[in-house]
Amino acid sequence: MTKRIGILTGGGDAPGLNAVIRGVVLTATRRYGWDVVGILQGFDGLYAGLPAVPLKEENVRDLLVRGGTILGAANRGNPFASRVTAPDGTVTIEDVSQDALERMAAFELDALIVAGGDGTMAIAQRLVQLGAPIVGVPKTIDNDLSETDVTFGFDTAIDTATEALDKLQTTAESHHRAMVLEVMGRHAGWIALVAGVAGGADAILIPEIPFDIEVVCQKIRSLQASGRHYSLIVVAEGAAPVDGEQLYYIQSEMGREGRLGGMGHLVGNLLADCVGAEVRVTVLGHVQRGGQPTSRDRWLATRFGSAAVHLVAQERWGHMVALQGTQMVNVPMEEALHTKKVDPEGDMVQMARDLGIVFG
Ligand code: F6P
Repeated sequence: MTKRIGILTGGGDAPGLNAVIRGVVLTATRRYGWDVVGILQGFDGLYAGLPAVPLKEENVRDLLVRGGTILGAANRGNPFASRVTAPDGTVTIEDVSQDALERMAAFELDALIVAGGDGTMAIAQRLVQLGAPIVGVPKTIDNDLSETDVTFGFDTAIDTATEALDKLQTTAESHHRAMVLEVMGRHAGWIALVAGVAGGADAILIPEIPFDIEVVCQKIRSLQASGRHYSLIVVAEGAAPVDGEQLYYIQSEMGREGRLGGMGHLVGNLLADCVGAEVRVTVLGHVQRGGQPTSRDRWLATRFGSAAVHLVAQERWGHMVALQGTQMVNVPMEEALHTKKVDPEGDMVQMARDLGIVFG
């Protein structure tokens, strides 16, 4: 029977989302002969009066190399806690999940594929409990979703962060400076750890290991004593000192967690006081989320998109595709909601320590 399936991209964007869309459309149309429509602006597209756009092979032809998402994304989109602005400007938070279900019916969707991170999966899971036929595709540059070894977007982000470290190193060497690079990752240190090792960092500060700045100072001073007059310090945005807390640019926004940031500058200031060298701080920010996906992210995103269509064929509502080892598997969405963190005692951190990298 011909099905009509929708796809939406929830939460923040990540390189590879367009490759997922392409994988879904090609698999659904070529293998199953189904119709696909795109839901615009994440979950907003299910209750904000936006149209659904037909997606055919010609619409996805050039998508592999494109970053972002052609469907748009909305970080705040949540039908269970939607911001509603009254004519007088007052903003209230309302549950519009029934509107979302009615909109899915109005779009005549037999199934919906949602690509997103933990927030998106949590919303999708609640809609499934209300009877919505939804399957998930894990996405985030942070690589912090459990039950999948890796998410697409991560490879591109670590490539970008590693390239930044390569560039910082040459100028650090010229000026005998300590260079601090703040990277994203929310409450997990994956981007900092992998890019830090790949980029030859001397210190990597991650949320999973509260840091003592004196340990970093000692490391830099010992490098100086050995004749190496520059250093590279990677700071995850969610890192925190042993006697302090994570820093936020914005503590909390209506309906969602605040925005982490500022730890790079704090570390830079502390180092300036103790290392006797000039310190400079770079905050990499959304550069990590933008641009063309790497070939590995295109490959993973395409596999995920195609596998999600097979999940729809099997009517595995409430399940998410995942990569475990080299195998494409599927897992209940709720099991993927725990934040996957770097193990402070694990072999990856130990390997970095063996190389002489300090974690504070
Ligand atoms: O989850 C992806 C991510 O890029 C995090 O690493 C970062 O903390 C956050 O999103 C930034 O969100 P926004 O795009 O809303 O500033």
